[in-house]
Amino acid sequence: MAKQAWGTRTGFILAAIGSAIGLGNIWRFPYMAYENGGGAFLIPYFIALLTAGIPLLILEFYIGHRMKGSAPLSFKKLGNFEWFGWWQTLLSFIISTYYAVIIAWALFYTFKGFTLGWGENTGDYFFNSFLGLTDAGSWTDSWLGGIQLNVVIPLAIVWAITYFIMIGGVRKGIERANKIFMPLLFIILLVILVRAVTLTGAADGVDALFTPSWDGLLSSSVWVSAYSQIFFTLSIGFATMITYASYLPKKSDITNNAFMIALANCGFSLLAGIAVFSALGFMANEQGIAISEVATASIGLAFVAFPQILNTMPGGEIIGVLFFLSLVFAGLSSLVSLTEPLISGLTDKFKMKRKTAIHIGIGVSALISVVYTTGSGLFIFDVVDHNIAIVSLSLSGLIMLILVAWKLNTTYAARKYINEISDFRIGHWWNFCLIVLTPAILGYNTIQVVVSDLTENYEGYPDSLIYVGWIVAAFAVVMAVYMSTFESKNSEFHTSSITTSKGTEV
Ligand code: TRP
Repeated sequence: MAKQAWGTRTGFILAAIGSAIGLGNIWRFPYMAYENGGGAFLIPYFIALLTAGIPLLILEFYIGHRMKGSAPLSFKKLGNFEWFGWWQTLLSFIISTYYAVIIAWALFYTFKGFTLGWGENTGDYFFNSFLGLTDAGSWTDSWLGGIQLNVVIPLAIVWAITYFIMIGGVRKGIERANKIFMPLLFIILLVILVRAVTLTGAADGVDALFTPSWDGLLSSSVWVSAYSQIFFTLSIGFATMITYASYLPKKSDITNNAFMIALANCGFSLLAGIAVFSALGFMANEQGIAISEVATASIGLAFVAFPQILNTMPGGEIIGVLFFLSLVFAGLSSLVSLTEPLISGLTDKFKMKRKTAIHIGIGVSALISVVYTTGSGLFIFDVVDHNIAIVSLSLSGLIMLILVAWKLNTTYAARKYINEISDFRIGHWWNFCLIVLTPAILGYNTIQVVVSDLTENYEGYPDSLIYVGWIVAAFAVVMAVYMSTFESKNSEFHTSSITTSKGTEV
């Protein structure tokens, strides 16, 4: 079976941008920025981008490109850390189980948009009619509140589309899909942006987003949010970018690609933030209230506040359809990148046919995702997302640096390798970030989150829900170690690591 590969450099860049730009940019970023002090968030955000985002993206591209394998194989070759590769892979897999559900919500809302079918009371519609939300205190009652048909049907469509993209392979599936989705997404964003900034009150909204609140810089939670947002938005720490880079041809630029992808992604976030906040400014203006009163939690922002704005906005139907469609497009190209690491890992390790791996990977993820379509799905989503996308993600980034930068001390050899094939050279700052600065900040952040989780229940949820989050996170670790104990039929898994502890390559 031929190794999978990208057709062109643009194909790879678009696919990596497609992975990066996702639900995280369109609704998580605006809300995070707002909640963490508007303009003051942008400072930690850009510091996180420069000290952790770009350096780690370069490192992951290096690992994938140099080792030419899925994350488990790459970490095995790098230094016998196969379990770590599986852990990252499983974390991506777990995210895919709930990420698909949010895309399903957006798909449903795209259709509702044509008639503004969510009615006047958008909050009641979303939480009660659409999600059939139960009570957190009694979340296990009557089969988790039962499966909601309105969610499960679009979910099946989302998985079907993902399946067809994946079955096409890397070049004819993922690359081609991104060549269609990305330009469309960009055009849609521009249309929404133009409409949004020309609404009355838009300027107040943008002001709220960009007005710094300096106190925020002193709060550790702002820094935790900024770093975890950068990891999530750039798809780093979870095997995705390693896998995508493993499909690059030998002669490929690394540094320039990483900068382009990171800047395109963050530029997109800023534009989406401006659009969303212009709309919030419009709504505040209409109702004569302060912006702080209209901006609600992340989920509420896209599915409650936004529909409400669309109800009164001239041309609301069109913008509504386009907005939710942009979530669907952005989400699908990221979902594809969340499922690829496991598929790549299974084909690498067990010499499985790609098709079989897709059936297992997508089949199991789709089955698990049904849990989130129940009335208690939102609570389960919330705790799993917190434990995986925040706690495990910071920890994964930190452990990666401890293994690669400290234990193997391989960043100097890596920099040499990267500089030889890249358009422009990276300097000592890169090593400094990976060896000193970023591990320090990630270490601090991880301790912060874990301590606060241990002292009080996340979101005040009942213990039973909190345990679900911990069990899922612990399962990923145990399963990862278990996967690495299997004998592989692939001889590449038996070669000893190619970097020595001195960092010199043999
Ligand atoms: N970056 C995507 C977003 O912003 C989500 C995503 C895709 C992701 N692949 C990932 C997050 C890998 C972490 C790791 O929505």
